[in-house]
Amino acid sequence: MRILVTGGAGFIGSHTVVELQEAGHEPFVLDNLYNASEKVIGRVEAITGKKVPFYKVDIRDREGLNRVFDEVKPEAVIHFAGLKAVGESVRMPWEYYENNIGGTLTLVDVMRQHGCKNIIFSSSATVYGDPAFIPITEECPKGQCTNPYGWTKSMLEQILSDIQKADQEWNVVLLRYFNPIGAHKSGTIGENPNGIPNNLMPYITQVAVGKLEKLHVFGNDYDTPDGTGVRDYIHVVDLAKGHVCALKKLTPGSGLSIYNLGTGVGYSVLDIVKNFEAATGITIPYVIDPRRAGDIATCYSSADKAHEDLGWKAENGIREMCEDAWRWQSSNPNGYDD
Ligand code: NAD
Ligand code: WQD
Repeated sequence: MRILVTGGAGFIGSHTVVELQEAGHEPFVLDNLYNASEKVIGRVEAITGKKVPFYKVDIRDREGLNRVFDEVKPEAVIHFAGLKAVGESVRMPWEYYENNIGGTLTLVDVMRQHGCKNIIFSSSATVYGDPAFIPITEECPKGQCTNPYGWTKSMLEQILSDIQKADQEWNVVLLRYFNPIGAHKSGTIGENPNGIPNNLMPYITQVAVGKLEKLHVFGNDYDTPDGTGVRDYIHVVDLAKGHVCALKKLTPGSGLSIYNLGTGVGYSVLDIVKNFEAATGITIPYVIDPRRAGDIATCYSSADKAHEDLGWKAENGIREMCEDAWRWQSSNPNGYDD
């Protein structure tokens, strides 16, 4: 299938391009490089041995999108492009709504004008808010998001659902990711956060490589087994494969499909520290700090629906996630600047 991958130079997008090529699809990458390096493209090509056509275009640029659609003639779009930093979204809500929602509206309009009505959208477990029950199934009601980033995901789910309802030619897949970590086994592509990482795993790997002094654990008084927050960490390569499996829901009449992409297993912050130490032999010094605003105690998925409908299930365990995150970080201490 010819697939346009927006945000395909980013963390999850680049891993998905690898898996698409390995599965025999033809991905085309579109990215404005706001949070990515063009070097990713060469690294993906080195992994798969295939060319990756790349377009430096912004999803808000209608003319640029029209040119790409005229040339590529995609049958489907996997839509990763967007801003994703939770704290930044609280400080810059306009920029988040304009980029994520404005950009998606333009993209979807160009898609329908070119007769391409198949989209897989990167949503997030954040749409469940403080979840009504655990493990979280797709039937769990959407909740109150605690930041504008989360609202862009929740609103875009609604927008794409409404568009599909109004025009049955659309096939829409909403994938709700839990916490993606790890990296490709080659150690040549991975997560490359700007500045001090917000997320747990890149923070830990930067402590391990000596760029940061110690981990700050945000609260140990949650109602969880050891008091620290529990999350469903998923290997990014498993997540990427979930997109390949989800393509089967882009057939005529499929309509709207919603899937959690998680492992169904929860690990606490201290579990992650212990597993990282066991996988790498490196000690991670840490201190307990107050809770981070907006955090919830526990969030993990029921991954059954994706297994039953798509035949997809995460294969990597926490050890592989830690080993692979470390291989990427230790061989690229400065990300793509090395
Ligand atoms: P990322 O920042 O690495 O990738 C996003 C890519 O989109 C970047 O390469 C960026 O340059 C590009 N981009 C941003 N705005 C753009 C625009 N206007 N036009 C064109 N390109 C643009 O992030 P990621 O972790 O790979 O996340 C991919 C998607 O998955 C995002 O939509 C994110 O919100 C979603 N998501 C991520 C996580 C996570 O924890 N990483 C969890 C749930 C959902
Ligand atoms: C995990 C756990 C922290 C950093 C975020 C977004 C969510 C989704 C994934 C996109 C929590 C603790 C973290 C640190 C810590 N993104 N922690 N010290 O918050 O579950 O989800 O990324 O959609 O929308 O909110 O992930 O990695 O930030 O935190 O103690 O330095 O680690 O409190 O319990 P989170 P995270």
